[in-house]
Amino acid sequence: MSYPYQIKSLESYNEAYKKSVEDPEAFWADVASNFQWRKKWDKVLNWNFKEPRIEWFSGGRLNITESCLDRHLEKLGEKPAIIWEPNNPEERTRIVTYERLHKRVCQFAQVLKNNGVKKGDRVCIYMGMVPELAYAVLACARIGAIHSVIFGGFSAQSIADRLEDAKAAFIVTCDGAFRGAKDIPLKSVIDDALIGNKMVKRVIVYTRTRTPVSMIKGRDVWWEDEMLKVTDTLGVEGFGDVEVMDAEDPLFILYTSGSTGKPKGVVHTCGGYMVWTNYTFVNAFQYQPGQVHFCTADIGWITGHSYILYGPLSAGATSVMFEGVPTWPDAGRFWDIVDKYKVNILYTAPTAIRSLMGFGLDPLKGKDLSSLKVLGTVGEPINEEAWHWYDEHIGKKNCPIVDTWWQTETGGLMITNLAGITPAKPSWATLPLPGVQPILVDENGKEVTEKAEDGYVKGNLCIKAPWPGMLRTTYGDHERCRTTYFATYENLYFTGDGALRDDDGFYRITGRVDDVLNVSGHRIGTAEVENAINMHASVVESAVVGYTHDIKGQGIYAYVTVTGLHGDEDSTRQDILQTVSRIIGPIAKPDKIQFVSGLPKTRSGKIMRRILRKIAEGQLEQLGDTSTLLDPAVVDEIKQGKL
Ligand code: WTA
Repeated sequence: MSYPYQIKSLESYNEAYKKSVEDPEAFWADVASNFQWRKKWDKVLNWNFKEPRIEWFSGGRLNITESCLDRHLEKLGEKPAIIWEPNNPEERTRIVTYERLHKRVCQFAQVLKNNGVKKGDRVCIYMGMVPELAYAVLACARIGAIHSVIFGGFSAQSIADRLEDAKAAFIVTCDGAFRGAKDIPLKSVIDDALIGNKMVKRVIVYTRTRTPVSMIKGRDVWWEDEMLKVTDTLGVEGFGDVEVMDAEDPLFILYTSGSTGKPKGVVHTCGGYMVWTNYTFVNAFQYQPGQVHFCTADIGWITGHSYILYGPLSAGATSVMFEGVPTWPDAGRFWDIVDKYKVNILYTAPTAIRSLMGFGLDPLKGKDLSSLKVLGTVGEPINEEAWHWYDEHIGKKNCPIVDTWWQTETGGLMITNLAGITPAKPSWATLPLPGVQPILVDENGKEVTEKAEDGYVKGNLCIKAPWPGMLRTTYGDHERCRTTYFATYENLYFTGDGALRDDDGFYRITGRVDDVLNVSGHRIGTAEVENAINMHASVVESAVVGYTHDIKGQGIYAYVTVTGLHGDEDSTRQDILQTVSRIIGPIAKPDKIQFVSGLPKTRSGKIMRRILRKIAEGQLEQLGDTSTLLDPAVVDEIKQGKL
């Protein structure tokens, strides 16, 4: 593979950026011509942010898996597409070549069809990080079904909500998943999620952990049995069939948290997402043919979709897929993997770096990290200390670090340095990629251009013009997409993040300005956590805020009023945590719960989160004006509880 659109110098970055702004259609037509299309597009871009309506490459016809698989067969067929590292390092590694991946995807595509899945149907995938998860995702894409992967840490209730929202009739899952020392009984969670569900017709179960499962007659089938019923031979009818899609047909739905209500299903489409994930992968990481790329995310999140699967595979890259966790069996696990597979690009989250830093340098002893060329981070702001540790101890001061800012909604990287090509600056995401036009605005949507006292321009981060990988809608509710992202500021996409800009035009993302928390790089809505806490029988009401957490970036702090304690404070706290686990999943469990007799509210009944945030941060002297509160005394009481 060669990547003619790979930027090789600062000058060509500047040139590409300029062209992408001045003539986006010509710019993206050039890039898009490097992919496999069944029919060329009629028009590169149609858009307005009012409705919003965004169409890239409309009239174009393709199947994304042909660019990810078929086109590599001739030259890269024998090359590893996926190197799979099991949870248990003693277990056998699986190397999936492009040829093998193509074969398995084509087989499973037939399985899906045999089980009644048709183009446009939603298929929910709830699996651990096994190669079969990749096969399932790509097989959906192959037949034009819309995949919706749900992270293995979500509860039955969360799955039930997503199934209902997506109106999904099909599920692919595993008996269980191995994660570190734990076994997660995935199928049993699915069974709970399906109680009362009338829509789901078929559940396909892959065997991974041999955890006992109950298989429901007429509904549940085994992956292994189904695979035996289809052909794996080229030339035999059915094998290799593809559904040719419109560029703007949906490719997948991925649920993500916002500041209000239940998670929304972000929809990405086939053509633009393909071009964007590939372009950003090849440019930010400066991927060179033959290199080994290791993205440590889970495929249940957007990072895994874009930078374990679609981006690397469309580039003919070798992508490492890791089933386990960074600290099991010990905190040297990432370094073992880098050493074992001679990883060239390592892409992980600041929270993982901070947690591994805590183990000191011992886990690095004897590990050869000399294959590393590029390091990356994603998901949350990286603090300077973690940045320098990553640079010094992992990159040995020899590897550029790319700090990539982006979101589920953006499909791929948006603001990031290009490894070794554009300058890096610790804890700054730096410059926008070609095609990305950031703007900082104040509360009223007016562009901020004046520098604040610290010398930086400060504002809410918006994007002025469309890029190929952006979301098109939120599933089943286009109005929600409009109000969430396009209505806050006229004619702008609002990211929900705050940012600074320096004199060089570099951006530093400072974090969410809405009620979304970023806990260990995972997005969690405060409203969602409150709703879950409020389900507990003893709880009257609650308010959830984030606070600075050394490892997780942000921790979850909940203030709770109760009708009475069930047992003592501690056991009630445990009960509430259990409730949150049940309703959302263990990732949303508050780190701290403080019982209070009332919440600080304005006369109109609005909870003053600003004050609660300060208290959670321990900034008790800086609560600001509390005179508008209905009952200022509750603040003193909460402060005392905190002291
Ligand atoms: C945050 C993950 C600072 C940000 C790809 C964003 C970051 C949210 C960075 C999206 C970064 C992501 N620096 N903050 N490099 N990358 N974020 O949808 O607040 O899970 O809005 O997508 O993560 O999280 P999401």
